[in-house]
Amino acid sequence: MAEKISAVIVTKNKRLYELLELCIRKNDDFEVLDSFSDNSELYNTISSLPKSVLFVDLQDDDLSLVENISPDCPNCKIIAVRENPDVSFIVKAVRAGAKEILSYPIIKTELEDILERVRAQLCFREQKQDKCKMISVFSNKGGIGKTSIAANLALELAQITKENVALIDLNFQLGDITTFMDLKPSFDISYMLKNSDNLNKDFLLSTMEKYKNTSLYVLADPPYFKQAENISPKNVAKLFEILKESFSYIVVDTEASFDGKVVTALDCSDMIFLVTIVNLPALRNCQRCLDLFHKLGYDDDKVQILINRYMENDEIGADDVEKLLKKDIYWKIPNNYFALMASINKGILLSELKPDSNVALSFRELAMHVSDSVFRKKLIKKFSADNINRLDEIFRS
Ligand SMILES: Nc1ncnc2c1ncn2[C@@H]1O[C@H](COP(=O)(O)OP(=O)(O)O)[C@@H](O)[C@H]1O
Ligand SMILES: [Mg+2]
Repeated sequence: MAEKISAVIVTKNKRLYELLELCIRKNDDFEVLDSFSDNSELYNTISSLPKSVLFVDLQDDDLSLVENISPDCPNCKIIAVRENPDVSFIVKAVRAGAKEILSYPIIKTELEDILERVRAQLCFREQKQDKCKMISVFSNKGGIGKTSIAANLALELAQITKENVALIDLNFQLGDITTFMDLKPSFDISYMLKNSDNLNKDFLLSTMEKYKNTSLYVLADPPYFKQAENISPKNVAKLFEILKESFSYIVVDTEASFDGKVVTALDCSDMIFLVTIVNLPALRNCQRCLDLFHKLGYDDDKVQILINRYMENDEIGADDVEKLLKKDIYWKIPNNYFALMASINKGILLSELKPDSNVALSFRELAMHVSDSVFRKKLIKKFSADNINRLDEIFRS
């Protein structure tokens, strides 16, 4: 039989504890662990468990336990329990790292549904698109902002969702990700592919470079030209397949070309952020890429336009761009030369170096926008249309 998922219940409410324990014990996929004497014992145990679920009573609004456990324990699914949770509590709890909200008094079927979802997530049996979202940041022009966008978006996604995010540098031979993030990784993509027979979640998490104390993992480009030559599109496809089983989000910084490996990444992606700046040569180029994506059979929704270095008073306005490209603009990242240059020169991403700058805020909102659809999918099942409208307001505010 498969290994059981350990369930931990944290509450001072004896009645709640007994009810949860009773229901969970009836499910053969779970075993309830005894209570812990303090939070550090709890933390140590959870971080060493391969699969766990933590029920935390948040009646007192204290999110500190959730905030502490969530970034370090990706294999622990946190369920926030609270009497009649309102929408602002749900948003706070989800942002802190809770994966589900269970309302108290407990409805047995609701708890059973949660246990089933937790089991499916932890055993990787969830539908592919729910489990991982892969985004490629692309333009066939260099110097347009692809690396800046990919690196900052990936870090914001990790910080907001607290889920495992992979950032892949697909600029073989000329990758910049390690410079942008001041990393000296021990392993690169060619090492990964040489060991493709061993590729699994544990191998990836232990060999990819973890970025500081976050849930962002980086896979660098190969340092030598020779190594890059041996990497085929087929190898790259296999790598993405395994990454998709192990990460919630994959962000790919692509090369400015339609090389086979890049097209493989684009094919495998759920979303392509086609980056342009507002000038005629770049926009014409963008038009050609859109035509090509159409020919490749990509859905309109899969390809989204990101304007980089946007300025309100530019000669060519956002409306003109939409008319020219016959497509809505998905996102506009403001021009901020000084913030970007300082960030690149220091090797520190914007959310750390200039968290209040307009560009850092834009990346944070973009990451929220990308991850919101995942939050919503889960929440829609539980809450009425009124509440969802209210959620929209909160996410936008
Ligand atoms: N929003 C922005 N505002 C100002 N400068 C930017 C912005 N985004 C990128 N840049 C600058 O553009 C240059 C190229 O960025 P980079 O991310 O390396 O592009 P690419 O990966 O497409 O070659 C960098 O010097 C960077 O500072
Ligand atoms: Mg680049």
